[in-house]
Amino acid sequence: MAILLPGGAGYIGSHTAVELLKEGKEIIIIDNFSNSKPEVLKKIKQITGKDFKFYEIDYSNKEELEKVFKENKIEAVLNFAGYKAVGESVQKPIEYYTNNISGCLVLLDTMRKYGCKKFIFSSSATVYGDPEIIPLTEECKTGGVTNPYGATKLYIEQILKDTYTSDNTWDICILRYFNPVGAHESGLIGEEPQGIPNNLMPYIVRVASGKLKELSVFGNDYNTPDGTGVRDYIHVVDLAKGHVLALEKLDKEENGIYIYNLGTGIGYSVLDMVKSFEKATGKNVPYKIAPRRAGDIASCYAEPKKAKEELGWVAKKTLEDMCKDSWNYIEKN
Ligand code: WQD
Repeated sequence: MAILLPGGAGYIGSHTAVELLKEGKEIIIIDNFSNSKPEVLKKIKQITGKDFKFYEIDYSNKEELEKVFKENKIEAVLNFAGYKAVGESVQKPIEYYTNNISGCLVLLDTMRKYGCKKFIFSSSATVYGDPEIIPLTEECKTGGVTNPYGATKLYIEQILKDTYTSDNTWDICILRYFNPVGAHESGLIGEEPQGIPNNLMPYIVRVASGKLKELSVFGNDYNTPDGTGVRDYIHVVDLAKGHVLALEKLDKEENGIYIYNLGTGIGYSVLDMVKSFEKATGKNVPYKIAPRRAGDIASCYAEPKKAKEELGWVAKKTLEDMCKDSWNYIEKN
């Protein structure tokens, strides 16, 4: 029985593949390399010393996907195949809705056809919109998303809830990621955004390496301790381990639909991040204060208690680890 990872060559998928292989699980990756590279597969094997099956297909292509289900016995699916760039989603809403939502529907329909109903979905703290209260618990209101990327996460969560209501033999876990950063400590896999990065950590590492001149800090007049935006940054390896525990939970518990925040519970500001990065790596990160970025919120961090109590999951890596490992990956690549 294998675990299927659509998008398993991507940033979070590849780190989760490593953790699953380390736990002795059999995995199958499918990916169309739309935002990843074939070398990642070799690196996963290099890190773990383990082999796995791979199909170069688009997860939204029903015929090709069916082939995977026909040829293998798949017990669970962890879906990492989704477009994830907020700014791009505003420019390309049709592509985002098609790939993320239609793709996921094709996947769910195919799973149902082959009697595979265990599903873990990569959601995002973005579903909470502009939080009314922080830290955010899983019970906090969702909605008010400001871009198509966030909307796809929110709609897929609703699709999953409706799916479970219609048929309670499904076993579903929704993981709401906060701000994933960092890379595997080996420096072999990490995040590789195309073009100029939108997210803070990839931008910082490019400034530190001299590829970009300086960081623009988007706003220093927020209602936060130093005026800059506060987020819950979480190391991608901690996040990956959360998936392994979520899968164990689905294996152990009765069928259901479970939702967990995956964050550290600690909020750091943009300037905290810059200082930490400089301290952890000895590199300079020149910055200037720039206007606020449209759609940004002041603060967002998790109450991760539910994941601790029900999954036995806690984020162990520090901000220093996140900075060091992000830098190590860039240096090695
Ligand atoms: C963090 C902080 C910025 C860049 C987004 C998505 C979310 C998730 C992660 C992805 C904010 C500030 C940033 C820069 C800056 N999705 N910043 N200068 O916006 O919290 O979350 O990414 O796959 O769903 O919404 O993350 O890293 O873009 O920003 O000052 O050049 O850094 O204003 O306060 P965000 P981010």
